Amino acid sequence: MKKRILTGDRTTGRLHLGHYVGSLKNRVLLQDDYETFIILADIQAMTTHFENPALISDSILQVAIDNLSVGLNPEKTCLFRQSMIPSIAELTVFYSMLTSVNSLRHNPTIKTEMKQYGYKDISYGFLGYPVSQTADITFLNADLVPVGEDQVPHLEVARKIVRRFNQMYAGGEALIKVPEPLLSDVPRLIGLDGNTKMGKSLGNAIYLSDDTETLKQKVMKAYTDPNRIHKTDKGNPEQCAVGIYHQVFQSREGATFAEGCKQGTVGCVACKKHLVDTLDELLEPIREKRAFYEAHTSLVYDIIASGNDRANVIGNQTISNIKHAIFSNR
Ligand code: TRP
Repeated sequence: MKKRILTGDRTTGRLHLGHYVGSLKNRVLLQDDYETFIILADIQAMTTHFENPALISDSILQVAIDNLSVGLNPEKTCLFRQSMIPSIAELTVFYSMLTSVNSLRHNPTIKTEMKQYGYKDISYGFLGYPVSQTADITFLNADLVPVGEDQVPHLEVARKIVRRFNQMYAGGEALIKVPEPLLSDVPRLIGLDGNTKMGKSLGNAIYLSDDTETLKQKVMKAYTDPNRIHKTDKGNPEQCAVGIYHQVFQSREGATFAEGCKQGTVGCVACKKHLVDTLDELLEPIREKRAFYEAHTSLVYDIIASGNDRANVIGNQTISNIKHAIFSNR
């Protein structure tokens, strides 16, 4: 039997190249060897964007299209919506008893996001989203969770909860599987502005849906080695967003550009133009698929609806097993 994978995205906007190298690319490769489930995390989206339901519902469609246009095949992969799976909400409540508030407060990703969004106080739902994410992963007993580096602390939360649950209610048996993270070879992509992370809310992202002109404008403004003022100055491609992207996206002549930068023989403008071409080549087939799905949105909604049905069959069984374990069916 194939092992099962679950991963997904918050529906708070379209996906970008950071998602692509950190997770999407991996999903496409894995879908042949694993039973793959992709969650459109619309409830988790509410933890930071509850005041903007219109953005969340638009993003459900857009994020689904992002996933389909990078090459996830709906015949192989189950794409579903978090808010349509009641067993996730139920499991979240049970798991919340097994999680301490302090451990959530100390979660490094929660802390980073609190800073990023400027939160002084946080909602109960935001603090607890790693618990709800544990339910996302375990309602279908996923073995592996392909994610970027920032999600590893959440996987730790999940592993801890599952172990406690099994200990407490299943006599130590693996009633629920303890999930493992699966990191891509590029777990985090820096932003165009040199920020350590490309982020939807940081304004430093190249979106999978960006057209050539937008791509060009963004790359031409990208952060480069600040100590390199003239073309003849010897540059440091490892400290330059453009240099790093050349390496990550493995442009054919990327190494030549890096060498020229180090020697002071190739200028930043030429280097950026080459990056535009490399990324354009990567994005073009993705844009083509996107155009198809954008012209057939009812097909996308149908894919999600059948994904919900399939996920619910599994979720209903899980929740029944879990209640049986806790209450011995009384
Ligand atoms: N937290 C993830 C993100 O911000 C999205 C997500 C929700 C997720 N549920 C998940 C990822 C379950 C992996 C597994 O991108």
